[in-house]
Amino acid sequence: MKVEEAIKKRRSVRKYLDKKVEKEKILKILEAGRLAPSAMNKQPWDFIIVQDQKTREKIAKDTFFARFLDQAPLVIVGVGDPQLKYYKIDVSIALQNMVLQATELGLGSCWIGDFREEKVKKLLNIPKKKKIVCLISVGYQRLERTKKEEVLRKISRKLVPRNKKPLKEIIHWEKY
Ligand SMILES: Cc1cc2nc3c(=O)[nH]c(=O)nc-3n(C[C@H](O)[C@H](O)[C@H](O)COP(=O)(O)O)c2cc1C
Repeated sequence: MKVEEAIKKRRSVRKYLDKKVEKEKILKILEAGRLAPSAMNKQPWDFIIVQDQKTREKIAKDTFFARFLDQAPLVIVGVGDPQLKYYKIDVSIALQNMVLQATELGLGSCWIGDFREEKVKKLLNIPKKKKIVCLISVGYQRLERTKKEEVLRKISRKLVPRNKKPLKEIIHWEKY
């Protein structure tokens, strides 16, 4: 798959089949993150691969936009070192590399910013001095929707529009 195709194909996927992601695919996804650029090549990141059902249920609990994590076969938690100025950018680039690699492998994914940081840090033994930047869910997309999911979809479509702004609205040649 060309990069352009992966970029265009990727959409946030929140419904997954009850099917594990193969280990080789997980490793390819992680490798795509490992190769990401980072400021001064510090690579200030750790990634936690969460597949355990109970752990995912605990992460999903008490959230609004991440409730579907109990149904996602795989969650990758992006951890950064806040002592480094660009840690959030560095970890984010690595996570987006993973998202694009997942797309090429026929997997759906979704960025998750709705998490209880202290709770998740405790749950996953993340050292106090580290920060969670974001999570991504990964899995095979499920196309059918239950009635409850249909209702939730309508609510979230109202809260979060799906359209992308046209280029002419966001670019400025030479000056703002
Ligand atoms: C930093 C970040 C945090 C996000 N957090 C959530 C989240 O907690 N739950 C969720 O369902 N989607 C989350 N999203 C996905 C966005 O809602 C989604 O990217 C946006 O609506 C555009 O849709 P698309 O990804 O299909 O292009 C997040 C995306 C980003 C980049």
